[in-house]
Amino acid sequence: MTQEPITSTNCKICNKELIRFLDLGQMPIANALLRKEDLNKKEFFYRLDIGYCSSCYMVQMFTTIPYEMYLRPDENKKRNYVFFSSTSDFMKQHFKEWANEISNNYLKENSLVIDIGSNDGILLQNFDRNNFKVLGIEPANNVADVAIQKGIPTIIDYMNEAVAKKILQEKGKARAIASANVILNIADLNELMRCIDILLEKEGIFTFEDPYLPVILENNTYDQFYDEHVYYFTTHSIKNLVEEYNMELFDAKFQEVHGGSMRFYIKRKSNSSINISDNVNNLLKKERDIGIDSGKAYNDFNSRVQKNKNELISLLKKLKSEGKRIVGYGAASKGVIITNFCNITPELVGYISDNTPAKQGLYYPGVHIPIVHPDNFHNDKPDYALVFAWNHIKEIMAKEQEFIKNGGKFIIPFPNVQILP
Ligand code: TMP
Ligand code: ZN
Repeated sequence: MTQEPITSTNCKICNKELIRFLDLGQMPIANALLRKEDLNKKEFFYRLDIGYCSSCYMVQMFTTIPYEMYLRPDENKKRNYVFFSSTSDFMKQHFKEWANEISNNYLKENSLVIDIGSNDGILLQNFDRNNFKVLGIEPANNVADVAIQKGIPTIIDYMNEAVAKKILQEKGKARAIASANVILNIADLNELMRCIDILLEKEGIFTFEDPYLPVILENNTYDQFYDEHVYYFTTHSIKNLVEEYNMELFDAKFQEVHGGSMRFYIKRKSNSSINISDNVNNLLKKERDIGIDSGKAYNDFNSRVQKNKNELISLLKKLKSEGKRIVGYGAASKGVIITNFCNITPELVGYISDNTPAKQGLYYPGVHIPIVHPDNFHNDKPDYALVFAWNHIKEIMAKEQEFIKNGGKFIIPFPNVQILP
């Protein structure tokens, strides 16, 4: 597998020339936090620019970072992924409800359910394994091992045509294929669709959820664009993609996870036992209203992003000139995008407080801001904390009452730069 980024100015789905609407400049790998001894070494950067296809409407990165660059095998040839899905109770409940929905609506006795990118088994663990068969596909050894320990059969590999054919031979076709926060990472979505075609029963469904582009556009959250995410989906782009494979988008449901995701439901066109939900046409209309199909939505977004960047930099510089001390809060990978795009260095934001032991002592790539234990933040009592983990702001404000009582303020970057409380 290649270890080099691949740049193409054409749509990865239909090969038409892409139209660029956002350029975040030279970017490091968002999850590649640096050790102190790495700070003087040459770092890897790629150009993070995003375009849309005026033919199939797929929004995508120009440069694709191959999995092996962020799922880098260690000295034992094991691939490790930084996210364990099951660390959050909220997400556990979310996946449990999805599994129940699939079981109740679409499965029969003995059906096979496949999860592409099954992580630690957070979805598959919820299926009643006395009634149904489950199979995970997961390339990262560390998370797959956890699933296997839970008794969930897991193939440690990437989904590709060879793997799909092997599954077909050994396990047969699947009644349901699901995937969460993975399809957007798969550079060759045409191959993915061929895999679905190989594996899906005649009356089976393919359902997946990923961050929903219109929400990113609405909230100006350009920090959602990063190396692992090749694609940013709309109802338009998914409808067009699956129709090329004689399949059909029959439903789409909004999910309050990862800042706003869409769960898509796909079936074979030949399967008339499932009706097309009104949701599909309603979403297509809403997307047309904001200009998803004309380019307007993207160009407006780009203007707002440039304005947001200028506002954030101006605010930080103004506070600095007034002698205020500013730090970062929550060393989320999103913050790597914000700091590198806005060129926020340790002179502006001294350090980032983060409660994850594995991140403490490391540095943001590119801008080299150090990540420290929250004790430092609490003892230091800075004036302002720029929140990179803005999606957790409620929890953070509830937990940092002492900071607020002492006059501390939070800076939230989106949808517009604001100071709380
Ligand atoms: P996420 O947005 O990808 O979930 O990352 C959030 C980061 O913020 C993660 O590194 C943990 C950190 N964090 C804190 O340090 N304190 C907190 O109170 C919360 C909610 C998150
Ligand atoms: Zn296209």
